Amino acid sequence: MDWDTDTDDSDVSLGSMEESDYAHMDRIEMPVDFRVDAGPSHKRFDMDEKHLEVLLHSSPCGLIVTDALEPDQPIIYVNTVFEFITGYKAEEILGRNCRFLQFRGPYAQRRHPMVDSATVVEIKRCLTQGVEFRGELLNFRKDGTPLTNKLCMTPIQSEDGTITHVIGIQSFTEAKLDLGPLPFPPWKESSEWRKHHLSEDSCSYKQSPGGPGQSSRDCSGLLQISDEVLMHNILAIVTPRDVAALGLVCKRLHEMTKNEGLWRLVCQNAWGLDATAALEASSGSGPACRLSWGRLARELTTLEAAAWTKLTVGGAVEPSRCNFSACAMGNKLVLFGGEGINMQPMNDTFVLDLSVARPQWKYVEVNSPPPGRWGHTLSCLNGSWLVVFGGCGSSGLLNDVYVLDLNSKQPTWREVGAGAGAPLPRSWHSSCTLDGSKLVVSGGCADSGALLSDTFLLDLSVEEPEWREIVVAWSPPARLGHTMCVYQKCKILMFGGLAKSGPLRVRSSDVFTIDLSEEHPTWSYITGSSLPGGATPAGTSPPPRLDHVSISLPSGRILIFGGSIAGQHSPSQLYVLDPKEEQPNWRVMNLPGQQPNFAWGHSTCVVGGTRAIVVGGHTGEEWILNELHELSLAHSLT
Ligand SMILES: Cc1cc2nc3c(=O)[nH]c(=O)nc-3n(C[C@H](O)[C@H](O)[C@H](O)COP(=O)(O)O)c2cc1C
Repeated sequence: MDWDTDTDDSDVSLGSMEESDYAHMDRIEMPVDFRVDAGPSHKRFDMDEKHLEVLLHSSPCGLIVTDALEPDQPIIYVNTVFEFITGYKAEEILGRNCRFLQFRGPYAQRRHPMVDSATVVEIKRCLTQGVEFRGELLNFRKDGTPLTNKLCMTPIQSEDGTITHVIGIQSFTEAKLDLGPLPFPPWKESSEWRKHHLSEDSCSYKQSPGGPGQSSRDCSGLLQISDEVLMHNILAIVTPRDVAALGLVCKRLHEMTKNEGLWRLVCQNAWGLDATAALEASSGSGPACRLSWGRLARELTTLEAAAWTKLTVGGAVEPSRCNFSACAMGNKLVLFGGEGINMQPMNDTFVLDLSVARPQWKYVEVNSPPPGRWGHTLSCLNGSWLVVFGGCGSSGLLNDVYVLDLNSKQPTWREVGAGAGAPLPRSWHSSCTLDGSKLVVSGGCADSGALLSDTFLLDLSVEEPEWREIVVAWSPPARLGHTMCVYQKCKILMFGGLAKSGPLRVRSSDVFTIDLSEEHPTWSYITGSSLPGGATPAGTSPPPRLDHVSISLPSGRILIFGGSIAGQHSPSQLYVLDPKEEQPNWRVMNLPGQQPNFAWGHSTCVVGGTRAIVVGGHTGEEWILNELHELSLAHSLT
């Protein structure tokens, strides 16, 4: 899809959509006084922020746009939520009238008798009279299962008052109806979505007191707000990709989707408040530094601006070492510990401030440092807290946790979570942080040399943190040297490592995910060297590896790079995966610029939300810490 949010001409690109389907789009001149970022309409938007809050915290909605100038209102745009819930793909829907949802599955010959005909008549009346409709009616998925659809239809007018398009928003919930056996063998269900997102009350607005079929003229609440505010609210709850696509529908929507305030909301909604706040903080302040959210959303979605740059930094990390751990703290890179000459475990802390013109490694004076170690993990919590866990110390493996507030006047390490229930001592495990305050640790190598497959969580927001094991019925095979990335706030993606396979240990390219917001979290196998049934996954799978780096993008996609790979495969190839897709596939990314040319022993972290810094790496002779490589994911500043 082409994005066209930051150009101000009206050359509306149709991207990957079928040009013939949209050829008529450009013929209507839409009014430009539709903007909501200035003048009186801005005030009106502020007044409705409460309503917007309601929408923002609601379940994702289906969204379609129809062409009101063509006979029978053909659908010209459908969003992925609609596809996912109904099971109908865009290619089966575009160009058709939406009444097919009233038929029980694609082979039904007529509207199902339980669909309320009075509501259908009312929809027709609203469409004929050009007024808004909202009400509830029975619909069906492609597999024939019933859905309750709380439908809102909003007509869009051109300057001369002609209705050119109608936008429909569907809030679907399961319909608890016993309709007897399905008319044909069930199709594969979108059960994941259904399980997590559909509930009796997942709808974001209440049915009008007058019952189904009430038009907006009679109803109260959210839908009494003005057209432009409503449209703004609708756009704010869909994905950045949908907003870009809707901007291609007509000139009026194109104008709306150029609004910076709207894009900020869209980014917040799609990536979360924390991620957007971090992006904002890292971009500095003042108009010269302000982020263009539309452009950032585009660049982080398409990765069109991603590029490698080599950075040479000053200062020194001395004595020299390997097997250290590094993490990002705002725009700073922090390094702790590592393995010095003669396997000496180190316990010193260094900081590299990447926001200054000439970054330099600086040793940081801290009190009460933890025992020296290597093969440990270092994580950043709450913006300035560093957390060290495990690793190999002078007298064996460790399972201690130390916390340090680097921003405090006299930074002092403090041991926490030492009670019963702590994970076994380990090294080469993987860790990540959830909600900015919870440390998650998985796998690694135990004292006995055995590989581990367990997962533990430590909530550091409470006064006396206690470890909790995530009890699961099944875990991915035990492993070390793997990575864990957080996406969509509470979901963790595990990739690669050296994994147990029967009596052997093999490099893995398997991807597993777990959702820790669930009451009983379960690991799922997403993709890897083979799919269930022995099928080979589509796309280009990364060769199996350990000791690689992985990066989680605000859009929820995961990048992996480097590591120890058997044979002659290029370790510096970058791969991207979107775990949110129904069938996630890896893609290779060939990026311009100077990428790291050494293979393994890297550490990485994302600085300022859009810059992944790759530090370290082994050339065969020495470990390099003054040559860093930056993978910039977007031009983050305008
Ligand atoms: C923008 C838009 C969205 C619509 N969404 C739905 C929908 O989600 N489910 C549905 O059953 N009907 C939907 N309809 C209504 C049908 O397309 C159709 O207009 C309705 O069934 C009345 O027409 P008919 O009596 O010719 O079928 C939508 C219509 C429009 C214009």
